[in-house]
Amino acid sequence: MTNAVELRNITKFFPSSNVLANNNVSLEVRQGEVHALVGENGAGKTTLMNILYGLHPPDSGQILVNGEEVQVTHPDDAIRLGIGMVHQHFKLVPSFTIAENIMLGMEPNRYGLLQKRDEAEQVRALAARFGLPVDPNARIRDLPVGMQQRVEILKALQREAQILILDEPTAVLTPQEVKELLAVVRNLAERGRTIIFITHKLVEVKDVADRLSVMRGGRMMGTRDVATTTIPEMASMMVGRPVLLNLDKQPARPGDVIFACEDVTVSDASGIPAVRHLSFEVRTGEVLGIAGVSGNGQTELVEAISGMRPIDGGRLCFAGQPITHESVGQRRNRGIAHIPEDRIKIGLNLQTNLDENLVVSRYKWPEFNRLGFLIRSAMGRFAASSIKQFSIAAARPGGEIATLSGGNLQKVVLARELAGNPRFVIANQPTRGLDVGSIEFVHRALIAARDSGAAVLLVSVELDEIMSLSDRVIVLYRGEIAGEVDPQTVTEEEIGLLMGGSRLVRNP
Ligand SMILES: Nc1ncnc2c1ncn2[C@@H]1O[C@H](COP(=O)(O)OP(=O)(O)OP(=O)(O)O)[C@@H](O)[C@H]1O
Ligand SMILES: [Mg+2]
Repeated sequence: MTNAVELRNITKFFPSSNVLANNNVSLEVRQGEVHALVGENGAGKTTLMNILYGLHPPDSGQILVNGEEVQVTHPDDAIRLGIGMVHQHFKLVPSFTIAENIMLGMEPNRYGLLQKRDEAEQVRALAARFGLPVDPNARIRDLPVGMQQRVEILKALQREAQILILDEPTAVLTPQEVKELLAVVRNLAERGRTIIFITHKLVEVKDVADRLSVMRGGRMMGTRDVATTTIPEMASMMVGRPVLLNLDKQPARPGDVIFACEDVTVSDASGIPAVRHLSFEVRTGEVLGIAGVSGNGQTELVEAISGMRPIDGGRLCFAGQPITHESVGQRRNRGIAHIPEDRIKIGLNLQTNLDENLVVSRYKWPEFNRLGFLIRSAMGRFAASSIKQFSIAAARPGGEIATLSGGNLQKVVLARELAGNPRFVIANQPTRGLDVGSIEFVHRALIAARDSGAAVLLVSVELDEIMSLSDRVIVLYRGEIAGEVDPQTVTEEEIGLLMGGSRLVRNP
């Protein structure tokens, strides 16, 4: 059997971060297989794929495509060799339409002076061919992440990719979208395409992959057949120790109501109400989970509570006081922390250093600020302790964060938001992109915040996460509460019905 891709003894050292990201790594990917690439945050997966895609030169090692040694010094070389890559953090142009993004850089040489209409037609045909429907004229900035993902894949397929690298394609998708994507991936493999699939979700590895390769600390730990490897085996290969896949926590001891959302209506970007007359309360010492298919108002609700989006009607109260018209900063000062769903766009500033990112929300605090001057040494100490507590790999207190791996960027956001004993934590997709060990850590950290008296509002498309962390769960459907359930007793079927908009009717 020919290998579509063979990487031999790839080594890559990054002097700027002093990290040996790939240490003599070899990998064989067979033609027509779905090959999962897994490993902890910072293990070197993205680096290895960036090398294959021509984004980084390796220090040493060889790349073979279809059995022949090749030089890949630029993504153009990779594309010519039939390699496509969908990156962990999308690289689409937000102000362009879907069609413009997919055709970007292709129009003049291949299609001459095509009209926009033809472009849209091309995209529609492509979308139909691969069963990934999109509206070619929609603008990227108005699209949910799941749809942006689809555009990235179409973009690679448009360029005739035979070998498709998907770097954590499911991290941002809803369960339904994940199902659809996995079907698309299987289908592509059955038509002879080769897929390298990076994921932290071992269930997906089981569902979609033929073989998996595991990286740890820059090294290749081995390749296995998926059929004969169990999920706990995969997890311990990744982490080097057995991982607790179940969280054990004490029952909640809820106190007073600390946050109330009263008859709140919020509009989305296009002015249409996304949250309608919504009312609920969160008490200290409890985790309230918000379940729902994404796009049912969760994003707008969280933005409204954190102060990023005005509300059209109703009231928000914190500790008995109205906060409806307060700024993000005023709410923060009250002890409201926000882990945003999009760490790159609103969670972090990649142009600044780690310590600055960590204190950005509390630069006025006396410990970091004397008469208007930032105290760098205190910031540095805070950063050093965050790195340690959250195991942020390859980070230095005053170092740039732009080079951190995806999961480690997420940990920076968590370290910032969970520090300083917040009274109310709004956690939107808090474990997106994290490896199993880190998920275990974050879940414990959120429960610890709860147990020390914070209220936690958890929004997640991961139903498992909602069910295992929450003390109560409300299900959002089209911006309204379809029902409230007890995660201890509700069945998967019942919650599924609520998520689909049916009201729960129990027989007496
Ligand atoms: N351009 C770069 N400059 C310096 N260091 C880098 C660069 N890119 C990656 N690194 C470092 O190399 C290591 C491997 O990073 P990589 O992004 O490959 O990890 P990963 O396995 O993809 O992790 P994740 O699951 O979190 O995405 C990390 O420690 C990271 O900080
Ligand atoms: Mg990565």
